[in-house]
Amino acid sequence: MKVIRLEEIDSTNTYAKTHMENLEDKTVIHALRQTKGRGRFNRTWIDLGSDNLFISIVLKPDKKYSNILPNITQYACVVLCRILEKYGVNPKIKWPNDVMIDGTRKISGILSETVIQSGEIEGIIIGIGVNLNSNIENVKAIPDRIATSLNIEIGKSVDMDSFLQEFLTEFFDSYDKFLNLGFNYIKKEYLSKNCFLRKDLKVQVLNEVKCGYARDITNEGELILEQSNKEDLVLTIGDIL
Ligand code: BTN
Repeated sequence: MKVIRLEEIDSTNTYAKTHMENLEDKTVIHALRQTKGRGRFNRTWIDLGSDNLFISIVLKPDKKYSNILPNITQYACVVLCRILEKYGVNPKIKWPNDVMIDGTRKISGILSETVIQSGEIEGIIIGIGVNLNSNIENVKAIPDRIATSLNIEIGKSVDMDSFLQEFLTEFFDSYDKFLNLGFNYIKKEYLSKNCFLRKDLKVQVLNEVKCGYARDITNEGELILEQSNKEDLVLTIGDIL
C-alpha cells in the first residue's frame, strides 16, 4: 500500500481519476482539505475542517474479480463499522454504504467510481469521507441529512492519523479474503449492523422513487423490496430516502 498525502485538493476522487493511469493498485490519496468534495448522486461532500478524513483508495484488482467490484463499497463500510466500534460508538449501515450512528446520524459517506479505458476497467476508486472532528453548528448546517462526527459522539477529539492507520490496516488485512469470497465474506456482519431491513422504504432509483418493504439482501448485496402487489423488486443501486 502507498499513501499520497496532499495538503489541499478539489476532490481526492477527482485526483485519483485524473492520475489513474500512473497510480498503482492499493494507492491511497489522503487530503487534509477538500474544496470540491463530491458525494453520491451529484451531491457535495462538505469539508468540516482538516481533522476530518478525506481519502480515496485506488484498486486495480484482477479481471477475475470484476463480479464483486460493486460490493467493495459495502466491504469498506463494514470495515469502517469495525473501527468505529473500537471508539465506543454504535455504527449501523444504511444500504448500500452509509454509516449511521445509532441508525440515525450520518458519520461517513462512500463514493465509488469506476474508471474505464478503451472498454476495459482500469481501476476503481473508493472515496471515503468520515466526520471525525467537527462542532455541532457545522454538522447541523449540512443540508439534506442529519449528520454527526465522532468527536461529538464520544465527547473528545479524535486523532485523524491513528484513525486512518487503523482503518487502512483493517481494510488491507482482510482485502484478499474479501476478493476471494465476495459479498459472502461480509454478509452476516453487514446484516447484523443494518438499520434498514424490515421497514417500509422509499428508495430513489435514478429518476424514480420505488416504495416497498425491505425484506432482505441478496448474496450479491442487492436490496429486495417487496412491493404492494407482493412482487419483489431487486435493487442494485439507489438512495434510501
Ligand atoms: C456520499 O455519502 O454521498 C458519499 C460521500 C463521499 C465523500 C468522500 S470524501 C473523499 C472522497 N472524495 C470525494 O470527492 N468524495 C469522497
